[in-house]
Amino acid sequence: MSRTPLAAIILAAGKGTRMKSQLHKVLHPVGGKPMISYLLDTVEHLSPEKTILVVGAGKEQLQQAIPGVEFIEQTEQLGTGHAAKVAVDALDDFTGDYIILFGDVPFTPRSVMEEMIAASEDANTGIVVLGLRPEDSNHWYGRFIQGPDGSLERIVEYKDATPEERAIRLSNSGIMLLKGSHAKSWLDQLGCDNAAEEYYLTDLIELARADGFSVPIVEADEADLLGINSRADLAAAEAARQKIWRAEALDAGVTMIDPATVYFSHDTQLGQDITLEPNVFFGPSVTLDDYVTIKANSHIEGAHVRAGAVVGPFARLRPGADIGKGAKVGNFVEMKNTNFGAGAKASHLSYIGDAVVGAGANIGAGTITCNYDGFLKYKTTIGAGAFIGSNSALVAPVSIGEGAIVGAGSVITKNVDDNALAVARGKQRDVAGFAAKFRDEKAALKAKNKSKK
Ligand code: UD1
Ligand code: MG
Repeated sequence: MSRTPLAAIILAAGKGTRMKSQLHKVLHPVGGKPMISYLLDTVEHLSPEKTILVVGAGKEQLQQAIPGVEFIEQTEQLGTGHAAKVAVDALDDFTGDYIILFGDVPFTPRSVMEEMIAASEDANTGIVVLGLRPEDSNHWYGRFIQGPDGSLERIVEYKDATPEERAIRLSNSGIMLLKGSHAKSWLDQLGCDNAAEEYYLTDLIELARADGFSVPIVEADEADLLGINSRADLAAAEAARQKIWRAEALDAGVTMIDPATVYFSHDTQLGQDITLEPNVFFGPSVTLDDYVTIKANSHIEGAHVRAGAVVGPFARLRPGADIGKGAKVGNFVEMKNTNFGAGAKASHLSYIGDAVVGAGANIGAGTITCNYDGFLKYKTTIGAGAFIGSNSALVAPVSIGEGAIVGAGSVITKNVDDNALAVARGKQRDVAGFAAKFRDEKAALKAKNKSKK
């Protein structure tokens, strides 16, 4: 049976004042990704004919951050009913049903949306509403007023509700599915004679009932319908996502000593038999292959760590770090835009940026690639099996040959041939007996000065 075409209308024109931010509310990230993108991804799975985002202020920000989405502007925020009407009017050549979603309820599950679609298939359905039973009875949701037969008669907004109505537990998530045949005419009939003087989407229920349609209720868990209105809500949403990702990682064969201290990104890719020590943070675009160990207190983003490599403790991998099989990146080592060969080692205190390091090379403690002259960035190449002595500065662009050795403390400014030794530092000079003579002279001088006082 072919399904009625669907248009997804996402309401996001609210001012989001409680967020206290210059950034549009729905662009605030959870797990490194704008909250609205989670909802857009879920909606995509419903294969809607149209997806339209209703926006007010901050339209430019949204267009830049989520290109390819269709926007409609609601210049004045006159309520949820008005926002839906603006979108439905803009889709005038569309014939199908409308699912109305909220941009700030971004984790609404696909299964719930699908249940709503299923409930809309009945010919007598006019609207499908999504309800929840909040744990805390003291909340601002609209309340479902059901008739003696359990059918939904109307929704009363908290502001307009009597104390008896406020005692009702089954509440309105705000999300609805409107049957296309009548949606437009019902939206056109909405008024704003209520406590908020707004056009309430919730008033559609009575209009649908008056036309003889039924309004089935789909219920979902409160936890799945988390609204994000403040930074506290944002932190709660982040915590909820992290909990899910940690459970998924454990399930997929990742060992975590203290999972609660490991932070994933929405797109962290994990192989099997990985060990993550406490306090590890993953920014976007990280892939860890099998048998990788990330030791405690490491920060990793935009990096690929290949099989069996060991990173940390206290390591920082930045975008473009590609750590070869079995390689080792030790404490206080930072790498950026670097291809670090299989089995290569940088065990302590280094900065390696814009480099290609061959297999098995050893980067001594304190080695720095000087990749930037204040204007441009330059590349460092280190051949396979090369040994870079501690505290060397490799001034890029520069190339160290395969198997070459750089003496500790060198400042390398010229290319070094394969298997050569390069030493670039002041030559050592020894003066026999100088130290003892120096001490004797100074001690005598000090004693003389003291006796004068
Ligand atoms: C709405 C519901 C309420 C429900 C609650 C759940 C109505 C009348 N009330 O109330 O029953 O319990 O959500 O959170 O629908 N928006 C626009 N344009 C506007 C007004 C709102 O785009 O003119 C958007 C907001 O950006 C937001 C969503 O619609 O994403 C909900 O708006 P909000 O003002 O939060 O509605 P509530 O008063 O919370
Ligand atoms: Mg709200």
